[in-house]
Amino acid sequence: MNKGATPSDHQGDIRTFALPQVERFQSTLRREPTSAKSTKMAIISKGDGYIIRNPDNVEEVQALFWPFMNELGWNRSKLDGLTHYVTAGAASWFLLCPTDSPKPEGFICAFTSANATGWIGFFCINAPYRGRGWGTPLFQASLDLFKARGMEFVGLDAVEQQVGTYTRRGFVDVARVRTMIRPAFAEMPLEAPRGRTVVGERLVDVREIAKEALVGSDFKHTGMERRSLWTDDALFHRTDTTGFAIVGADGGRLRGWILSRTSITGHRIGPLYAESARLASVLVHAVLENLQRAEGDFAAEIPVDNIAAQSAFEHAGFAVGGPDMHCMWLDGKVPEEQKPGGKAATCAYAWFDAGQG
Ligand SMILES: CC(C)(COP(=O)(O)OP(=O)(O)OC[C@H]1O[C@@H](n2cnc3c(N)ncnc32)[C@H](O)[C@@H]1OP(=O)(O)O)[C@@H](O)C(=O)NCCC(=O)NCCS
Repeated sequence: MNKGATPSDHQGDIRTFALPQVERFQSTLRREPTSAKSTKMAIISKGDGYIIRNPDNVEEVQALFWPFMNELGWNRSKLDGLTHYVTAGAASWFLLCPTDSPKPEGFICAFTSANATGWIGFFCINAPYRGRGWGTPLFQASLDLFKARGMEFVGLDAVEQQVGTYTRRGFVDVARVRTMIRPAFAEMPLEAPRGRTVVGERLVDVREIAKEALVGSDFKHTGMERRSLWTDDALFHRTDTTGFAIVGADGGRLRGWILSRTSITGHRIGPLYAESARLASVLVHAVLENLQRAEGDFAAEIPVDNIAAQSAFEHAGFAVGGPDMHCMWLDGKVPEEQKPGGKAATCAYAWFDAGQG
């Protein structure tokens, strides 16, 4: 388990932590010339003054991702850009390239999962290029990809200002996502845990859990089968990714798990899935205790539908950190797991990332 990574450890050049992964990913592309070629060549659409194309490499995405995360205050880690790129694959990212600019000026990511559920994330255009109507074809590129790949469900988390535009495109506002923030330990020391494991339960490093079990658990809570996310290449190679799981005596069944990774101001906690509020509290405490030497604050994006989620974080010193985001699904089609009364409303305590669902 990596102890107490500080935000400053992880905000710098991705070379510090991730270059071997990038190289490995690119060498994967080199071993698969067909996908590499189509990625490089693909112009998705053209309009007056712009083209939309896939990125040639992760650096193109990072060159937009990191400035956007800072300017928009979306508080991610630079390494999240790599995680999202590897998870989605180059063909799911679309870059807006104005002909009067030497570089791409906007992007969007259309995440597709193995069970026909898509998610739109990171829809951003640099301010001088907004309001020209170019966001519309960029957004459409995502919808076209979902259609081509046969996605039955398509969701996104919208900031308040964009709810109207997504509504006009057929998305229905069905749930809320709330950001909870905990001040740094220097301001608010960690208190004693609210809950404890009981006989038969074991708290273990999340890396001891088989990836297949994480994929299955995430699927049960979100309705998204994210086989490319819960991997070493996308996430677990990162030294800032830490986490715990609770397994039962009943054959080591996974009863809950939590992850943490760095953000601009500190750390982001999520996902957190747990069979009970007690286990959720144990996991929140475990992940915070493990980060005792870390600087900065802690953020979590919680499903408002799970009424136990907010208290689990409040008990650990978190408070509501800003306006809720709107979880919207195309044509109002919501995966079973995220419908009222589904697993999300009872056992999901924090999402992984609003940008990826
Ligand atoms: C979202 C964004 C990419 C849209 O780019 P754009 O260049 O404005 O796109 P367009 O000109 O094609 O407009 C697309 C739609 O967004 C709407 N829109 C754009 N900016 C808006 C704003 N600030 N508030 C409300 N609606 C806005 C437009 O009215 C249009 O909707 P309509 O076609 O239904 O009328 C851009 O505003 C942006 O980067 N915003 C900051 C990042 C952000 O908030 N992303 C969305 C996260 S959910």
